[in-house]
Amino acid sequence: MCGIVGYTGSDTAKDILLTGLKRLEYRGYDSAGVALENRDAGTGAARLDVVRRVGKVDGLKSELAGRDDAATCGIGHTRWATHGQPSVANAHPHVSCDGRIAVVHNGIIENFAELREELEGRGHQFRSDTDTEVIAHLVEEAYAAAEGERDIVDALREACTHIVGAYGVAAVCADEPGVIAVARKDSPIVIGRGERGSYVASDVIALIDATRDVVVLEDGQFARLAPEGITYTDEQGRAIEPTVTHVDWDVDMAEKGGYPDFMLKEICEQPRVVRDTLVGRMSATGELDIDELGLSFEELNLIDRVYVIACGTSYHAGLVAKNLIEGWARIPCEVEAASEFRYRNPIITPSTLVVAVSQSGETADTLAAIRDARIKGAKVFGITNVVGSPVARESDGVIYTKANKEIAVASTKSFIGQIVSLTLLALLLAQVKGKITVRQARMLFHELGDTAEQIQWILDTQADAVREAAEACVPAQSALFVGRGMGAAISYEGALKLKEVSYLHAEAYAAGEMKHGPIALIDPGFPVIAVATKSPTYDKVVSNLKECEARGAKIIALATEGDEDIKQIADYVIYVPRVRDAFSAITASVPLQLLAREVAIMRGCDVDQPRNLAKSVTVE
Ligand code: F6R
Repeated sequence: MCGIVGYTGSDTAKDILLTGLKRLEYRGYDSAGVALENRDAGTGAARLDVVRRVGKVDGLKSELAGRDDAATCGIGHTRWATHGQPSVANAHPHVSCDGRIAVVHNGIIENFAELREELEGRGHQFRSDTDTEVIAHLVEEAYAAAEGERDIVDALREACTHIVGAYGVAAVCADEPGVIAVARKDSPIVIGRGERGSYVASDVIALIDATRDVVVLEDGQFARLAPEGITYTDEQGRAIEPTVTHVDWDVDMAEKGGYPDFMLKEICEQPRVVRDTLVGRMSATGELDIDELGLSFEELNLIDRVYVIACGTSYHAGLVAKNLIEGWARIPCEVEAASEFRYRNPIITPSTLVVAVSQSGETADTLAAIRDARIKGAKVFGITNVVGSPVARESDGVIYTKANKEIAVASTKSFIGQIVSLTLLALLLAQVKGKITVRQARMLFHELGDTAEQIQWILDTQADAVREAAEACVPAQSALFVGRGMGAAISYEGALKLKEVSYLHAEAYAAGEMKHGPIALIDPGFPVIAVATKSPTYDKVVSNLKECEARGAKIIALATEGDEDIKQIADYVIYVPRVRDAFSAITASVPLQLLAREVAIMRGCDVDQPRNLAKSVTVE
C-alpha cells in the first residue's frame, strides 16, 4: 500500500509531488522519492533527476529544498516495503540502465524473479531488491525495440504484457519531456485534470486540491498525461472514453477511501490481504516457496517442538497455528504470551523452533522473548507485517504478512495475514516432515486462497445480520464468546476485539468449559456469542449452547451458510461460507471483527483509536 503521485503542467512539479506524497504518507512511509525532468544547463538536453530518501516525506522535502524548482513534470512515491528492506536503493522511483526512464509502482509482481533473471541474462543491471525495478528495464527494452516513432505509453503497454501480478504504474522518459505514462491492473490509479496541468495518484486524496473530477482508471487501461491534456487507451492501444467521477469527500473521508473509519476499511481489505500474502508462495511444480525461510529443509526436519510466542491478537493467531502445526505436521506446539515466555524457563533445545508473531515487528515483550530463545539455542522464525522490523532482523527466517500498513489500533487485517502466513508455515513443516504430499499441500494451498472470496461473501451479505446481533449486545454489561477447537481460538480474538473497541467486558471460553464455572454468569438476556460453524465438534457446541439457552442467554451464533437448525436455539445467526475446519478461523474472525466494530459504534466509541491503547507497544 504505497503511494504514487505524478504531475505535468506549468507549476513547480516538486511542490505538487511533495504535497501529494505528504497526503499519502499515512499509508506507509519507510522511504520516499521523486523523479523530476530537468534540462542540462549546457546542452539544454532533458534528463531525469532521481532523489530518494529513507524515512518520511519531510526528509525528502529537506533534500529537495532550493533545487529542481524549474521542473514541471515528475513522479513520486512513498513506500511501504514489501520486497526488499527499506533503503535508498529500494526506494522508488526505479530507473532503467541508461537512467532515461523512471517508474513508480504499487502492487506486487508475482513473476518478478523470472523476469529479473531473463533481463539480467540480456545484460540489464539491477540496483535494488524490489520487484518494481523489472518494470523500468522492461519498459526500456520495449522503448528501444519500437519500430518507427518511440512512445513511452506503448512501451509501458508492451512491458505490461510480461507482468503477472498487480500494478499501478507511472513512468516518465527523458526522451519525451512532459509526458507521464500510466497503467493499472488490480491496484488503484486515479487521474485528474486541473487548471494548471494533469495529475495522477494512487489515491484521490493526493488530487483533491487540484480537482474533484477524477477518472478511476480501470484494469487494462492506460493513460498519457501531458501538460495540455490526457488521453486514454486500452490494452490494444485503441482510444477509450473514460468515465469521470465527481468526488466530494473531505480530506478525512478521502484518507479512509470513503469508509467511515479505518477499522472498517481494513476489515474490507482482508480479501486482498489473503491474496497478497499468498502471491509467489507456490512454485510452478507445486512446492511451497517461502523465500525468507532462512532455515534449510534439513534443519526444519529436525524440529521436534514449536513455541509460538506473541502478544494480544497475534497470540490468538498462534492459537490457530497450534491446531494446524499439531494437526498437519504432528509436531508438539505450545502458544505462549511473549511476556510470560521470557520470564519462564521453557524447555528449549537446538531442535526447538520459536515462531514469533508480531504485526508491528517491534513489540518489546516479543523481541525480548526472541533474544532469550536465541540465547537458549532455538531457531527463530518471525511472522511480521513490517519489512526490516526488529522481529524480522533478529529472526533466522521470516514470512511477511502483506497486510500493508494497518492504521486502526485494533488489529484486523494483520491478524488475517498472520493466520494465512502461519498456515503456510504449518503446511511447509508438514511437507518437510513427510506428513502430507506435494499434491495435498497444493490442494490445501488453493483452498486457502479461496478464503479471499469467502471473506468477500461475508462482507457483501452479512452486514445486516451483524447489525441486529450488535443491537442485542449494546445494553449488556458483559458478553461471553464460546467455541471449540478452531472456534475456541477465534472466540478469544472475538472477545478481545469487543473489549478493546467497545469497552464492553467480554470473556472467551472453550464451550465445553462453560459448565465448570462461567455458566453461573448467565442470566436472562446475557449475550453468548458462539462459533457454531460446521466442524467435527459442531454437535457438542450445540449442546453447550442448549445449556446456555435454558438459562435465558441471548444466543448469537456464527453458523455455516445453509444451517437452518441453528435457528432453533440461536436468537441471532450470522452466516459464514462452508470451509474446511483448518481454514475456518480465517472466515469466522471477520463477522466477529464486524460485530465488535458495530457494538463500539452503537456505544459511541472511537473504533480507530480506543482509549488507553497504542498501535505499537515498545515498552514492557
Ligand atoms: C489488538 C492488538 C494488540 C496487538 C498486540 C501485539 O487488536 O492489536 O493486541 O496484537 O499489542 O502487537 P504486535 O502484533 O505488533 O506485536
